[in-house]
Amino acid sequence: MGSSSLLSAVARRLEGKVALITGGASGIGECTAKLFCNHGAKVLIADIQDELAHSVCKHLGPNSASFVHCDVTDESDVRNAVDTAITKYGKLDIMYNNAGIMETAKTNILDIDKAEFEKVLGVNVMGSFLGTKHAARVMVPAGRGSIIITASISAIMGGATPHAYTCSKHAIVGLTRNLAVDLGRWGIRVNCVSPYVVPTPMSKAFLGVNKDGAIDVYSNLKGAVLKPEDVAEAVLYLGSDDSKYVSGHNLVVDGGYSIVNTSFSMFN
Ligand SMILES: NC(=O)c1ccc[n+]([C@@H]2O[C@H](COP(=O)([O-])OP(=O)(O)OC[C@H]3O[C@@H](n4cnc5c(N)ncnc54)[C@H](O)[C@@H]3O)[C@@H](O)[C@H]2O)c1
Repeated sequence: MGSSSLLSAVARRLEGKVALITGGASGIGECTAKLFCNHGAKVLIADIQDELAHSVCKHLGPNSASFVHCDVTDESDVRNAVDTAITKYGKLDIMYNNAGIMETAKTNILDIDKAEFEKVLGVNVMGSFLGTKHAARVMVPAGRGSIIITASISAIMGGATPHAYTCSKHAIVGLTRNLAVDLGRWGIRVNCVSPYVVPTPMSKAFLGVNKDGAIDVYSNLKGAVLKPEDVAEAVLYLGSDDSKYVSGHNLVVDGGYSIVNTSFSMFN
């Protein structure tokens, strides 16, 4: 290999790989789809926002990205999404279970309906379970694969988001660990990524924005603002062979937010 082709192989970390991204029409999923394509992957976006997903694919180019309608809570949709990846691209290397909802900003348990709670767990937890189950169906015979789930800092701490959301994200860490043990027997890695607040349609809807269109939140890291691109970079690492011995891990992308107790002022 010449030095320039060696360089491009290093630079394009997903060359020849096929990825399925749920919730890829918007926010973190859309940004990851773009980064994956830039790194040489073929990406299949699975989402319920058809029009938006089509325009994202158009932007990424028909040779790099395509769309399949998929409600992650519907097992036949998820089965079809995985089968579409195989029919279209011949294999599945990376499954990114990213679709998620917050559904409500209500924090008082007395105000929260059973149906609202179940809906959040349905998309965030059941959707990740179904996505992993059907990805495993095709990855196990191949004897390889990387499965990633979007958790949150609400996977490791309380009080930052409503009950159902926090509960669902804690469940994702448990699911990730169990799946890593199960699927590790076939050489398949399973990890999750836990971002702090990232400006996306979901967070803007529930946390609100200031006059500059930004979300006002405490940051532990001076001068850095978390963007969807930063989360996508973490997902790229977990999806690529750079993380070939990393499994069962929760990669927290929060600038140190979750390890600070702001009630102690030693460093103020
Ligand atoms: N934005 C943040 O601050 C933040 C922080 C931590 C974790 N997360 C997590 O990141 C993930 C992506 O969220 P985002 O912030 O990019 O929000 P987003 O609303 O921009 O994107 C979520 C995507 O999921 C899709 N989706 C929702 N329900 C679906 C379903 N049933 N089936 C298929 N697709 C469905 C939506 O259509 C949308 O395209 C979620 O799991 C979210 O919980 C977000």
